[in-house]
Amino acid sequence: CSGGGTGNSDGGGEGTPITVGFSQVGAESEWRTANTASVKAALTSPEFRLKFSDAQQKQENQIKALRSFIAQRVDVIAFSPVVESGWETVLREAKAAGIPVVLTDRAVKVSDDSLYATFIGSDFVEEGRRAGRWLVGDSQGKAGPIRVVELQGSVGSAPAIDRMKGFREVIDADARFRIVRSQSGDFTRAKGKEVMEAFLKSEGGNIDVLFAHNDDMAIGAIQAIEEAGLKPGQDIRIVSIDGVRGAFEAMKAGKLNATIECNPLFGEQLAQLIRDVAAGRPVPRRVEVEEGVFTADQAAIALPNRKY
Ligand code: AHR
Repeated sequence: CSGGGTGNSDGGGEGTPITVGFSQVGAESEWRTANTASVKAALTSPEFRLKFSDAQQKQENQIKALRSFIAQRVDVIAFSPVVESGWETVLREAKAAGIPVVLTDRAVKVSDDSLYATFIGSDFVEEGRRAGRWLVGDSQGKAGPIRVVELQGSVGSAPAIDRMKGFREVIDADARFRIVRSQSGDFTRAKGKEVMEAFLKSEGGNIDVLFAHNDDMAIGAIQAIEEAGLKPGQDIRIVSIDGVRGAFEAMKAGKLNATIECNPLFGEQLAQLIRDVAAGRPVPRRVEVEEGVFTADQAAIALPNRKY
């Protein structure tokens, strides 16, 4: 079985709770808060004993947490990796201890795929493509050049790398689009605002579109755009990713044009994967969550039904 068997010989057996060490990225966005709540709700039944650790967006904290889970001989480790690379050593340590690892939300780059048992999360490349397709549709009949600024997620993280890639795949096929500035806003509102202020300063009124890798950065940027005396959603068309309630409110107010859903509510599916790996049952290599695309005209109807 990939990822090894169970670390604790009594844990996870009939009637014994499964001890899970979960290392979360941080609390950088509305998406993350919803994800933490979903994971905690699913792993707080008597069936599980959850050890939760917050890495505060730092890989070194996360590696420390994983080592502590290994030392405590948890049954299963689950974690959402802050960045994509640099996991080889600690994952080998988990494997040597016989503790299976489940990746949640973000993927890792490793040379040996047997270092983790399975992955649950989104197709970030496809999310980037969806943002690009929305933009192409929204720009029908417009003459070029269409100047785009991009607020990237955390440097080196899978969603930042993949969303950049998917977005470019689509817009590079249309000569009207030009990405004039692209910088990280670290997935936070405060950073999104700060970087957008810098974009506005250097580009003046020459920005037609903002693509933000998450809604929180878009919401921060909206504030910067308003403070610069421009109308977000009109003077600058805006598309972002996640589909959090704040984005629906911004769309309802006409300040955001579209959000590409990234579903954080996979706690129950994660719990099932953990049960399966703890019992040594075969699991799929990759489990993808379902998601859609929402535009401003759908916001008022969709908002009351949003779960995060
Ligand atoms: O990894 C998922 C991303 O991380 C979400 O899009 C973002 O909001 C979060 O911080």
